[in-house]
Amino acid sequence: MIQKPLLISKQTIQAVQDRADIEDIVGDFVTLKRKGSGKYLWACCPFHDEKTPSFSITPDRGIYKCFGCGKSGDSINFIMEHDGLNYIEAIRHLATKYGIEIIEDEQSDEQLAEQNERDSLFIVLNYAKEYFKEQLHTEEGKSIGLSYFKERGFTTNTIEKFELGYSIDAWDGFYQSATKNAYNEDILEKAGLIVRKDEGKKYDRFRGRVIFPIHNVTGKVVAFGARTLKKDDKPKYLNSPESDVYHKSKILYGLYQGKNAIRQHDNCYLVEGYTDVTSLHQSDIENVVSSSGTSLTEEQIKLISRFSQNITVLFDGDAAGIKASLRGIDMILEAGMNVRVVVFPEGDDPDSYSKKLGSTAFKTYLEDNATDFINFKTGLYADESAKDPLKRAQSIKEIVSTIAKIPDGIKRAVYIKESSNLLSMDESVLVAELNKILISDRRKDDKKRVEETTGEKLLEELITETEVKGTDYNQLVKIQERESIRLLINYGFNEIEEEFKLYNYLLEELEDVEFITPIYKEIFEIFKKHLESGQVIDSKFLIDNSEGKVKTEVIDLVTERREISPNWNDKFQIHIPHENEQLEAVVYTNVARLKFRVIQKLITENLAKMKSAESEEEQDKMFRIHGELKKSEVELAKVLGIVVSR
Ligand code: CTP
Ligand code: MN
Repeated sequence: MIQKPLLISKQTIQAVQDRADIEDIVGDFVTLKRKGSGKYLWACCPFHDEKTPSFSITPDRGIYKCFGCGKSGDSINFIMEHDGLNYIEAIRHLATKYGIEIIEDEQSDEQLAEQNERDSLFIVLNYAKEYFKEQLHTEEGKSIGLSYFKERGFTTNTIEKFELGYSIDAWDGFYQSATKNAYNEDILEKAGLIVRKDEGKKYDRFRGRVIFPIHNVTGKVVAFGARTLKKDDKPKYLNSPESDVYHKSKILYGLYQGKNAIRQHDNCYLVEGYTDVTSLHQSDIENVVSSSGTSLTEEQIKLISRFSQNITVLFDGDAAGIKASLRGIDMILEAGMNVRVVVFPEGDDPDSYSKKLGSTAFKTYLEDNATDFINFKTGLYADESAKDPLKRAQSIKEIVSTIAKIPDGIKRAVYIKESSNLLSMDESVLVAELNKILISDRRKDDKKRVEETTGEKLLEELITETEVKGTDYNQLVKIQERESIRLLINYGFNEIEEEFKLYNYLLEELEDVEFITPIYKEIFEIFKKHLESGQVIDSKFLIDNSEGKVKTEVIDLVTERREISPNWNDKFQIHIPHENEQLEAVVYTNVARLKFRVIQKLITENLAKMKSAESEEEQDKMFRIHGELKKSEVELAKVLGIVVSR
């Protein structure tokens, strides 16, 4: 029976927003470090691969922002992004974490219809999983599916734990059942469960196969792998296509069932197939995941790293497969994780070999044969390069380039020493080779970093740069608009004079100014709209109550990359005032600058019009306007202490 979905009440959402502590939540996944003034905490970004921290959180605002990949948001966004959850799921997750009672309102039929697609996909996928499980116990299911599982040694416990199922050998058994239960055809198709032919005919994707549901890390079914039971039927495994909830590169088979064991043993076995995972579980080894036949991705490594920093790769015993998987090892090392390798005898995979040896002997085999990657790789090349000096040089390069992937310098040194022994090669030669690679990598990195930070220039830098480039007044106005909004949402409540708040001043001064940058205009309008109903809003309100561009921009505006180092104060006895100590001056200057830039923009536009004026009369008018504008420009320039040409 599928339950009617419920809607989480506003109070619950508010309670979660109030309670969700960004430092606490992010701290579950990365190590946060304080530096500089301590206003921000820093870490290596959990969303992209990096070696130096550019991921920041601002605890007093409850937000995070990565200056490398640009991801930003609040606690709830973080959980959504990190665990691949939708908004409601994230709220539920956090409510559970903080012991907040979830109050729900039942959704009306219209709301149900509007319910977002992700939810619907999860619902039909869950329905399908239940359906396939039931089919395993029908007459056909028992005689074909279940007997196959029994023959291959699947225990009842495994069948239940992995929720295995069977799809009957008919064209539309599932389709009939799903539509009878009023599931939407479009969603069934988007979930990859049915296939629509051009003529509008529909049929089941999975027919006459045993079914392996694929769960995401929180245990929801996102896809299926379906193995044929007929000899020579292609493909052997038929998998769900990608969908809004299933991205192959971000899913590991077995992670949901294995994550606790991975954490406990602080190690994760990585295998190739579904049956390798289930067999290891039957050998009492639960800390195992499979990349399901495709090559390992960075996202999958990140997923594992949430639970352990140690990966042991189990290879089938064929050389081609091993060489193809070496890239995966480099990627694991690059992520700063430790990797070991176990190879099985030719022709065996973890599934077959665990059955051959039995649980105890298999466990011993894994322990005795787990080799450090460097020994493994050296061994791999040692055989073929013993005779051929050219090949030997090549294999040394290979090995050193793998060592160069390790972010930690001490670990690198240890491995260089070890491989120097293994290769009987002078350590200094290896170090020289290593340095060559590191230097060239660093150059690439630096170039990338410069490119990344150009978006983060200080206001002053931007202004001078634009001026040097040749006056793009739109850009200059935009900079000042940004600054106005930044001051408004950060310091709106601060008094700049007695009984006179910063927002009063800004609104008064900017009453006639039309913002030209859409996003700043939008935020300004939101501010004014709330003010009309007597509510003064700030950045926290905007972060909690908006989404998309507005939210991203607001977060940007409350997070500044550069911090004033407290060392200045201690070391040099120089007091660098924080901007809120001199807010009055800051905001006056901003308003004057904004107006100054707007005037200059108008002057250039007017001049252009003057040049292309059709009649003398028109030209005269432009000229008069020019005079007026120039006067204002000079006035404002005086205020700002700038000299302008007349
Ligand atoms: N695979 C796939 N499609 C295929 C073949 C393989 O998706 N046509 C994936 C499956 O996830 C499979 C894994 O690659 O589990 C490993 O493939 P293979 O070794 O051929 O399968 P086994 O897991 O050994 O399956 P079985 O023992 O049932 O033959
Ligand atoms: Mn197999």
